[in-house]
Amino acid sequence: MLTSLAELLQRKASGPKLAVLTAYDYPTARMLDDAGVDLILVGDSLGMVVLGLPDTTGVTMDMMLHHSAAVCRGVKRTPVIADLPFASYRTSEAAVLNSRRLMDCGASAVKLEGGVSMIPQARAIIDAGIPFVGHIGMLPQSVKEEGGYKKKGKTNEQIDRLIADARALDAAGAVAMVLESIVPEVATQITDLVKASTIGIGAGSGTDGQVLVTPDLLGSFPWFRPPFAKPHADIAGETLRAVREYIAEVRG
Ligand code: KIV
Repeated sequence: MLTSLAELLQRKASGPKLAVLTAYDYPTARMLDDAGVDLILVGDSLGMVVLGLPDTTGVTMDMMLHHSAAVCRGVKRTPVIADLPFASYRTSEAAVLNSRRLMDCGASAVKLEGGVSMIPQARAIIDAGIPFVGHIGMLPQSVKEEGGYKKKGKTNEQIDRLIADARALDAAGAVAMVLESIVPEVATQITDLVKASTIGIGAGSGTDGQVLVTPDLLGSFPWFRPPFAKPHADIAGETLRAVREYIAEVRG
């Protein structure tokens, strides 16, 4: 299990692959830490799977700070990556200021969405001494411009853009990058090209690690589950069962 981001290079070279999960609250973070995940992501998927928002664009800095602090309180060992939410990194100055606020909650690194177009922000964050994680491929914060969640890497133009994005983030000094919803062969190609650890979601098995939204793993958000997510539990079913049993017990 990973105890510091400094171990990422070694893990990329000799494995095992990184097992990464999201957390948004203290008890989940504490259990993930006890179970031995490599990295915990306070993702802005928070908006959908915890706060009932339609997408991630309604997630604010205040929400991310509130949940990042709770997660960091639950963790003894695991490095925590915190997402910079929508509109929190429009300028390099805003990116650094908001990254510092997340780091003050106890995060070990921050993540933002975008490649070549976000290099000024990525460089500013790294120059401020803050470990930085990129995120390319399908970008949930751009869902409105993109008109939906679409797989990337299906055309030569998309492949060229993804490779340019990955190379630019790597050259800027990203310690890792999330590859979301990318054609598996392209994700593997990027993994072989970059020094940073690649963490895939819906991008096949050729990346340096995998990340999953924890409610998708636990079956605790049954109303939507992406096709690539394999639930390992049925927490929603178990919750319904326990609550119905309690209702019956109280009513007699
Ligand atoms: O917000 C999130 O949970 C994420 C993962 C899907 C990688 O960014």
